[in-house]
Amino acid sequence: MPDSKDQILLNALPEHVAIIMDGNGRWAQSHGRPRIFGHKNGVTAVKEVTEAAAEIGIKYLTLYAFSTENWSRPRMEVDALMGLLIETVGKQISTLQKNNIRLKTIGDIQRLPAKTRLALEGAIEMTKNNTRMCLILALNYSSRWEIVEATRLIAHKVKEGTLKEEDINNEVFAAHLSTSDIPDPSLMIRTSGEHRISNYLLWQSAYTELYFTNVLWPDFRKNDFYQAILDFQGRERRFGKTGEQVSKETISII
Ligand code: FPP
Repeated sequence: MPDSKDQILLNALPEHVAIIMDGNGRWAQSHGRPRIFGHKNGVTAVKEVTEAAAEIGIKYLTLYAFSTENWSRPRMEVDALMGLLIETVGKQISTLQKNNIRLKTIGDIQRLPAKTRLALEGAIEMTKNNTRMCLILALNYSSRWEIVEATRLIAHKVKEGTLKEEDINNEVFAAHLSTSDIPDPSLMIRTSGEHRISNYLLWQSAYTELYFTNVLWPDFRKNDFYQAILDFQGRERRFGKTGEQVSKETISII
């Protein structure tokens, strides 16, 4: 298969790409190995995609690494994932620094095991001034949790009189989400053939282009990422307008 990278239009990149990394368990099963073997190999895909995104100039990359629902997995798998996060952050911190990549998290990381939380907080602090790309890990994250939290914050402000009920609008609501300083994703990728959003960036993905691939996450490589970008670049984004309005706008911009 030819490398898709050369066909990408660098002036029409999605500013923010969000990924649901799915299929680690099935990949491990197909190799006759325990589920954690799939997660360990998933780290290779994380590295590939981070590199690929930074190389072409993506500004924000968000990876769904652990959902609030994932706590209900077998204890051994949860512990192994938490350990894998510590190990990966420790090993990758120098690469993040070298490549000027900032690490951030969204989700309730206060509820992660202390060692995992501390490893993440250390890396977030060390990389906070990096500007090339922001790598965001969604950890102990779910959209419904985030939306309820935002509502709670807003209700509190209204109650104490620092926010007026009539001033609540889309922008004010978005400013209370954990993504307040991150643009909405233009493209969301889900691997492994599942066609669901699974409680991921529900508010933020109102106009996001969705891309599904059958590739299992541990097999996902740079070229798979580039193909998703090319597919995105072949789409017309209308944001509720007609196709005719959008093409007129494009012509007037040109
Ligand atoms: C989904 O596959 C994957 C996860 C819930 C965890 C993803 C974690 C990693 C790739 C490793 C650590 C990540 C970082 C950022 C260091 P699944 O287990 O649901 O697969 P299945 O649907 O085939 O069972």
